[in-house]
Amino acid sequence: MKKTIVIKVDPNNPEISKMIIAAKIIRAGGLVAFPTETVYGLGADALNSKAVKALYKAKNRPLDNPPIIHIENFSQLELLCKKIPNKAKVLIDKFWPGPLTIIFNRSAYVPKASTAGLETIAIRMPKHKVALTLIKLSKSPIAAPSANLSGRPSPTSAKHVFDDLQGKIDIILDAGSTCIGLESTVINFTSCPPEVLRPGGVPIEELKKVIQDIKIHPFVLADKEIKFKKTLSPGMIHKHYAPKAKVILVEGAVSSVIKKIRELTYYYRSKSLKVGILGTQETISYYNADVLETLGSRFNMEVIAKNLFGLLREFDNKNVDIIIAEGVPDEGLGLAVMNRLRKAAGYNIVKT
Ligand code: TXA
Ligand code: MG
Repeated sequence: MKKTIVIKVDPNNPEISKMIIAAKIIRAGGLVAFPTETVYGLGADALNSKAVKALYKAKNRPLDNPPIIHIENFSQLELLCKKIPNKAKVLIDKFWPGPLTIIFNRSAYVPKASTAGLETIAIRMPKHKVALTLIKLSKSPIAAPSANLSGRPSPTSAKHVFDDLQGKIDIILDAGSTCIGLESTVINFTSCPPEVLRPGGVPIEELKKVIQDIKIHPFVLADKEIKFKKTLSPGMIHKHYAPKAKVILVEGAVSSVIKKIRELTYYYRSKSLKVGILGTQETISYYNADVLETLGSRFNMEVIAKNLFGLLREFDNKNVDIIIAEGVPDEGLGLAVMNRLRKAAGYNIVKT
């Protein structure tokens, strides 16, 4: 077992001496957890196969699921992919640095491990000083999946990373809670028209304001399990975002959702199970359960997105058996929230 060190860094003005320590670890093939504006990532030198393989191992990540490659300048982009379609350039201009990941055809320069053997590569330029400084000082693009154990909710704080990965990684750069709280939007430009594979920090409505012709993969909107023989994005099929407790998601009009959640709570508590409810500011007072957690106001999706993963983990800390979660409107950032909740529930959804 490694000794994982945690170093506090200033999110706005990362101390160079501390960042050099982390960059040296990347250059030596080690694993560094660092904050981005979305969630914490677990970074390895993307051009070092051995380091990237160690990254899969630390996360217990299936070998067919490639990480996102994080860059901080455009020559790194040119190095990693064959061609940048014009429409992708338009999105890059508007949304980079930021929570948008773009899939391109990869160049021969990229080690196989960094794309899980695929001919395509997922690239993003994050908008967080610590992430950008780390990539710059490491002098290499950084492969970084979310810094959680595979299948668990993504980490939005250094503590979440520590809880999952202590003893398995070299260092955690702790710059406080992440700002968006959900992962980046993933769009594939190797298909025509480009296709959104994962909803995330940039709402699809925002992408469509810039390029109109965008497809949305059925997985993005799915409210039941879809079986595909071959998927474009391996991450779509693997179990995801799951706390230890069983999750039930209740969707529909607010008043009937409240009624249903009260019924379900009564039923499970009568079976002596410890029930947690994930509600919203406007509804939480209607519930009575063993653990109550509030996502935020139904009218402020940014706050809900930011709180979601941390609260899913909180229920595990409180050892509940069942989490009953309230659905929210799936517009804007709400689509990404609902996509994560539906997956966390393993599509165990009650419609009212
Ligand atoms: O916000 C984020 O995107 C965070 C931060 C750390 O940047 N990262 C993140 O990485 O969420 P990860 O590995 O947890 O999710 C990456 C997703 C997976 O669903 C993976 O299957 C998909 O991107 N992906 C990676 N390479 C791909 C490729 N070549 N084609 C299709 N999907 C790909
Ligand atoms: Mg992940």
